[in-house]
Amino acid sequence: MRSAPLGEECWQAAIAQLTVRETSFFRHRDWLRALRDRVLLPAMREKARLDNGSIAVWSAGCASGEEAYTLAILIGDLAESLPVPGGWRFDFFGSDICAAAVAQARAARYREWSLREMPPEVRRRHLVPDADGRSWELRGPVRDRVAFVRHNLVDIDAGTWPAAPGQFDLVVCRNVLMYLHLRARTRVATGLAAAVAPGGWLVTSPAEATPALFPALARHSFDALLAFQAPTGPDRAGQRYRQHGAPTDISDDPGTPRGAAAIPLVAALAAKRVQTAAPPVDALLEAASDRELAGDHCTAVELLRQALSAQPEAPEVHFRLGSLLHRLGRGAQARRHDRLALLGLTELRDDCLLRAGLEVPVGRLRLALQQRLARALSDG
Ligand SMILES: C[S@@+](CC[C@H](N)C(=O)[O-])C[C@H]1O[C@@H](n2cnc3c(N)ncnc32)[C@H](O)[C@@H]1O
Repeated sequence: MRSAPLGEECWQAAIAQLTVRETSFFRHRDWLRALRDRVLLPAMREKARLDNGSIAVWSAGCASGEEAYTLAILIGDLAESLPVPGGWRFDFFGSDICAAAVAQARAARYREWSLREMPPEVRRRHLVPDADGRSWELRGPVRDRVAFVRHNLVDIDAGTWPAAPGQFDLVVCRNVLMYLHLRARTRVATGLAAAVAPGGWLVTSPAEATPALFPALARHSFDALLAFQAPTGPDRAGQRYRQHGAPTDISDDPGTPRGAAAIPLVAALAAKRVQTAAPPVDALLEAASDRELAGDHCTAVELLRQALSAQPEAPEVHFRLGSLLHRLGRGAQARRHDRLALLGLTELRDDCLLRAGLEVPVGRLRLALQQRLARALSDG
């Protein structure tokens, strides 16, 4: 599906009519069990062994969010049994082309039909029935951990691709590729593969798990699951992308020349990085991170303030300073920077990447800020 010169409202009305958004929590439980036991558990054990408690997951084509929340539940449960120093940091992200689906995912309110495969004990832990008794709302940390953005996977060359190369430990794109035209499917598959971290995983539905779509990744068969793993070691995602380029060895796709889709994505992301993090702010942010890691919070605050003198409206810097001040218990100052960060994001598209320690999409930063301010409000 491609963006057309329609008004956004017409375009979204068409998308809402044309897309198949069937999904549910814990969809295909055998498949999920294999994903948990054969992919997630070993990967998280390895992270725990290396004291690396950060895990990033992208549910691409997440419909109304059930898949992304299911992954957050599974991974949260595994994390509880695998302690790491400093605790786990979760970076869960869902995207879909359909604005109505994304709005529903953010609202996290579901009917019985969406919950039909969810174990009752999991339902009791994470969902609260609404007063009308007809729907359930997801509450608590799982909901807070997942951010959603509207994004068309086919817009790979438009500079709005939400993932940096090698950003995700797990990319799940299930029952989405099958709806795309072959040429679009090939290009999207290349972008998804590039978003996987070295040693990380990409999974589709079994029907979509064609090795020719992901030539840079190794295919493994685990019970009900076919999974693709990115090479580890020096083959960094950007290099992998350039070396392998767009897969063209699918006989009825004469379109994309080898590598043609690859370079613009990497270039677009690199260009965005330059735009949003020009020195000296870039250098000041890095120095602030170093001081923060070293436990020298006063200097970190000072460096972030200097960065704001150079770029007074930089939302990513306000966000960083707000985060640090929250941790230091300086709530009023922190909230001020949160509000300035939100203000600075107003004109930016949800899928722009900003450097805030990690590269994060604007939509995710906006949601995190809104949630943080709402929490501060409810805590009084
Ligand atoms: C059948 S649902 C799959 C939901 C979920 N992944 C699962 O398997 O339960 C397919 C989803 O893909 C989304 N989709 C279709 N084309 C897309 C595109 N070009 N970019 C992003 N999402 C797309 C649809 O809006 C729909 O929500």
